Amino acid sequence: MHTYGTAAVNTRGHLEIGGVDVVELAAKYGTPLYLYDVALIRERARGFKQTFDKMGITAQVAYASKAFASVAMMQLAEQEGLSLDVVSGGELYTAQKAGFPVERIHFHGNNKSREELEMAFDANIGCIVADNFHELALIDEISQSRRQKMSILLRITPGIEAHTHDYILTGQEDSKFGFDLNNGQAEEALVTAIEKPFINVLGLHCHIGSQIFETTGFTMAAEKIIGKLADWKERLAFESTVLNLGGGFGIRYTAEDDPLEPAAYVEEIIRKVQEETERFDMNMPEIWIEPGRSLVGDAGVTIYETGSVKDVPNVRKYVAIDGGMSDNIRPALYEAKYEAVLANRVNDPVEEVVSIAGKCCESGDMLIWDLPLPKAATGDLLAMFCTGAYGYSMANNYNRIPRPPVVFVENGEAKVVIRRETYEDLIKLDLPLQLPQMN
Ligand code: LLP
Repeated sequence: MHTYGTAAVNTRGHLEIGGVDVVELAAKYGTPLYLYDVALIRERARGFKQTFDKMGITAQVAYASKAFASVAMMQLAEQEGLSLDVVSGGELYTAQKAGFPVERIHFHGNNKSREELEMAFDANIGCIVADNFHELALIDEISQSRRQKMSILLRITPGIEAHTHDYILTGQEDSKFGFDLNNGQAEEALVTAIEKPFINVLGLHCHIGSQIFETTGFTMAAEKIIGKLADWKERLAFESTVLNLGGGFGIRYTAEDDPLEPAAYVEEIIRKVQEETERFDMNMPEIWIEPGRSLVGDAGVTIYETGSVKDVPNVRKYVAIDGGMSDNIRPALYEAKYEAVLANRVNDPVEEVVSIAGKCCESGDMLIWDLPLPKAATGDLLAMFCTGAYGYSMANNYNRIPRPPVVFVENGEAKVVIRRETYEDLIKLDLPLQLPQMN
């Protein structure tokens, strides 16, 4: 078993996380159950932040809350001194309810509505990441009508797309996000924005992709953007206070993945920005980043109970669990790979290779293909690792399956931070066509 954070096997052969026996947690809270190793989230957050501090760089590490947004998670992010990236009125509302410091909230999105932008102005958040000309016009209009200043970053597409193991240089960026740097739209957006009386352009933002294992994509993007900033300094007298290089730092889901430590990404980015700004005799900007997955991904574990076992002789053995694509859509949507163990007997020897089936009415609802396991019987507990990012946040009620609870574990204590959804919750929004006939 690869161990993440505080995960360990106790003397009973049970998986333990945060000093708490997972088998006991499953008995207490039921399954499926999302667990988060809070100490590991803190460690990851500090890994990013301390590297900036050590290298003397003014920075903001903004948690991309789309990876897992909840009141408790946002409060944890605030405890660790992170900033917060929100992408919708719903995430902003959650942040407000969590009491997150508004000046450290950044609002993203390629189609923010007028209502969402008004919400950002009402809350007086730190900055809006302006994505397109329509939005720039809206921000201008709202800021003028309120006579309220708003800071913005311009989201640009630098023409670099990073993938897990490689990166692609694209001439004309074909993306729904941001202003293109190559075709002149980014410059047009800047010229438009800096003239606006109540808009303060703090700098530029780019996000080159997700689950990235190398620093090259980030440093290429930084180089390209700073080259353009040098030109804008010369011609437009514009100096960027902030350079936000987005998120996308990869994590280890399976043995095939080989990510860098948070510090390694940050060090390389800082070095490149220093080198390029010195080259053009520019001031060092603040560097902002937006990790989502790398802050919470490997801190999350989902616990399922095994149910039916279907053996197709000479073909495959299906072990079904009590959740599936309703609590983790990533295998079905992205063919995402995961590892898992039997949490109630981690030390038992591997005896067979099985495939883990979800319970949703869809053949594609398979969580893991070809997983080596001890012989699984009905009533075992399966712990699936690395489900902390885009697991709960993309959970749904397909087949009217209630969403599992989320429990934070730390220092031998467990705390429910999202309760289990009930059947009553499921019909909360339903309005009947007629009153049910009682018989
Ligand atoms: N900043 C921006 C502007 C983003 O669009 C994203 C992710 C992030 C930061 C955080 O990226 P991260 O560090 O988490 O890779 N649902 C997909 C991932 C979608 C990512 C969307 N944007 C998945 O489950 O893999």
